[in-house]
Amino acid sequence: MEKDHNVSRRQFLTYALLGTGGFMAAGVIMPMVRFGVDPILQADAEDDMVDVAAVDDLTDVPQAFDMEYEQDHGWHVEQVTETVWIHMEGDEVVALSPTCTHLGCTVNWGTDPDNPEQFFCPCHFGRFERDGTNVQGTPPTEPLHRYEHEVRDGRVFLGTNPSPQI
Ligand code: FES
Repeated sequence: MEKDHNVSRRQFLTYALLGTGGFMAAGVIMPMVRFGVDPILQADAEDDMVDVAAVDDLTDVPQAFDMEYEQDHGWHVEQVTETVWIHMEGDEVVALSPTCTHLGCTVNWGTDPDNPEQFFCPCHFGRFERDGTNVQGTPPTEPLHRYEHEVRDGRVFLGTNPSPQI
């Protein structure tokens, strides 16, 4: 006796709906999973150090260098370029974020004629010492953030996340 392998219209519709629903659910859930996992992946990326400058190019006067790296967001890779202020304090490399700790404007070195040996923020006249310490009496209440750094073969490598100075 031959078995009946025919699929009824009802069964076909059930399978089709289940398949389509599963496909759509995966489309919704996978990005959410990826979004949740992304910070974990970023933690690895944060360990990567970026080659930014030659030690021989550094002096005790802060200079602006571009730091270029790729940031993987999971669904796309972003090309990032950040400016970093780098100088030498004796034998130590100091790499400072240009982001003002008051409200996030960009600071520059030596642009205030009255204080040419300081970082200056034009937004609310915030000022910082060479080592990033905020000048008392100006709006910023904490120092500029510092980048983690390593020197390898005469090159300065920086982490991509500047941290508050302790
Ligand atoms: S944002 Fe820099 S002083 Fe206000």
